[in-house]
Amino acid sequence: MNIRAMLRAHMIATELTALIREAGLSRCAAFIQHGDTSCLLHCVAVAFYSALLLDVLRVRYDRRALVRGALLHDFFLYDWHRRRRAPGEPLHAFHHPLAALENARGHVALTDKEADIIRKHMFPVTPTPPASREGLAVCLTDKLCALYEGLCRNTYPTLRRLYARMLEEPELPANDGQ
Ligand SMILES: [Fe+2]
Ligand SMILES: [Fe+2]
Repeated sequence: MNIRAMLRAHMIATELTALIREAGLSRCAAFIQHGDTSCLLHCVAVAFYSALLLDVLRVRYDRRALVRGALLHDFFLYDWHRRRRAPGEPLHAFHHPLAALENARGHVALTDKEADIIRKHMFPVTPTPPASREGLAVCLTDKLCALYEGLCRNTYPTLRRLYARMLEEPELPANDGQ
């Protein structure tokens, strides 16, 4: 493993652990994003591959902002396949970046760059492009990951192994919802 790969894996493990603790990010494991890929695994994959993309291109970037923005970009916490929209609520594609941003801000302090990555990751479906190279990398990688997840099953075997314990769905209390 080269130094960039180690930094990438370590940063994702560190921020994933912190966001699970501080924001309850593991709740995303309860929802399917595409195919058989959970929303949490999808976010980990977008973080990993957008960092890989910029590392391969040898672009200087804010690794922590990219990883945190990517890990939180789909922190909307509902099953988008089944959700009934509230009256006047836009389609999921337009609505969820702001829902994710609002949820994230309810738990952790975000830098302007992190917030921008989350808010604009659906470009060009939403009209404003990300303001940073980190945001552009997340935006592009998100599309490629969605395509892969839609077409394949048992996705990201290496990431599933690497972050196995962190990707588990949290156990709910026995009397939850009763
Ligand atoms: Fe999204
Ligand atoms: Fe996404």
